[in-house]
Amino acid sequence: MNALDYQRQIYLGGFTGKPPIVPADWHLLEQQARDRMTPEAASYIIGGAGLQDTIRQNRSDFGRWQLVPRMLRNVEAASTQTELLGMTLPSPLLLAPIGVLEMVRPDGDLLVGKAAAETGVPYIFSNQASVPMETVAGAMGDSPRLFQLYWSKSRDLVASLLQRAERAGCRAIVLTLDTTSLGWRTPDLTAAYLPFLWGKGIAQYTSDPVFGRLLDEFLQQPPSARPPISLALLRNLRHTVSRYPGRSFVGKLRSGRPLGAVQLFTSIYTNQTTTWDDLAFLRQHTRLPILLKGILAPDDARRAVDVGMDGVIVSNHGGRQVDGSISAIAALPGVVDAVNKQIPVLMDSGIRGGADVFKVIALGATAVCLGRPYVYGLTLAGQAGVREVIHQLMADFEVTMRLCGCRSIAELRDGDWLVNSGR
Ligand code: FNR
Repeated sequence: MNALDYQRQIYLGGFTGKPPIVPADWHLLEQQARDRMTPEAASYIIGGAGLQDTIRQNRSDFGRWQLVPRMLRNVEAASTQTELLGMTLPSPLLLAPIGVLEMVRPDGDLLVGKAAAETGVPYIFSNQASVPMETVAGAMGDSPRLFQLYWSKSRDLVASLLQRAERAGCRAIVLTLDTTSLGWRTPDLTAAYLPFLWGKGIAQYTSDPVFGRLLDEFLQQPPSARPPISLALLRNLRHTVSRYPGRSFVGKLRSGRPLGAVQLFTSIYTNQTTTWDDLAFLRQHTRLPILLKGILAPDDARRAVDVGMDGVIVSNHGGRQVDGSISAIAALPGVVDAVNKQIPVLMDSGIRGGADVFKVIALGATAVCLGRPYVYGLTLAGQAGVREVIHQLMADFEVTMRLCGCRSIAELRDGDWLVNSGR
């Protein structure tokens, strides 16, 4: 359905007593989702690092650019279709990897996967998903998906995840570089809440054969110092055990595996030692294209080209890692210049509306990744909520293109559509 039909359908729905299931205004979307989340989920999903300055900057820097619409250009047949890494996409849009979706819906990843498949928008599976990648891929048919990898301390585990991603039909690997450790996330620290300790968001690990083997070895070692028993500890342990795969609660508890898995996970899931040289290991272990996520500096982008990477994602992780960081939209032009059209440049962090997508593509990016807003759709209305958020963003972008006199993505990338107000 084109954007204008979709727009008509929304208005007609209102007339016939069926308003949209999620608000088109993203401030309202966030507010309504926040009201439906537990306080821990709201901190984890909406919050960011430090003083939250990067989150604000990600939005306010979009205001540096303004669109310059052109008139009388026959936009009736405007199309947002585009190509990325051999995929034909309905719009230059992907879903960013977002971990621990079970904080808002127990089977959140599955619902997002199905919504992505309904819309044809690729879904980047998170390494911190709550549902194993094979299960989500199985619900998506042939729809495009990618796998996001965190470089753990175990190379065998990295290799195993790569193999699984290939077998699950993923079209590319997205290696996230900006999380060599967790950022100083003040809302989560204030709540003293990290979902992984509750056994949440570690399904890619607990479903992995290499992780299983590492866990066997881990459980052979003498146990480390245990925290003092308290009521809260026992209550929370119950959650951790119930999140671990398997039926018998007592059996799982006796095996020591649920708690062992969390301990093992927290000790290996990040790796501070990785350097550019390690990328050769990825190349040797996958035939899939590799995109580097978290690139902000032009010289890092240039280096990604030089070492043979297949794309970069300009991102500051939605302001969750470095507070006071350059915004993604401010970093984009430098990265685009440095890459010089040799590989695709994608961007996330702050995408909320169609004009944002327009600006990013007009600045030379190939596509954008949508983050938090689809989680808000998931929170409010499950699969249908995600689908509506995607449809609304695609329609907003298409309407913006039409009203600016722009008829194709090629025209958008090659034209002169923006002024920089320098604000
Ligand atoms: C993320 N992001 C993220 N990135 C990644 O590579 N792997 C992951 O598991 C996660 N998990 C995650 C959880 C939550 C709750 C959020 C909000 C974000 C970062 C994500 O891919 C993307 O970079 C940001 O969401 C972009 O910022 P906005 O547009 O959502 O503000």
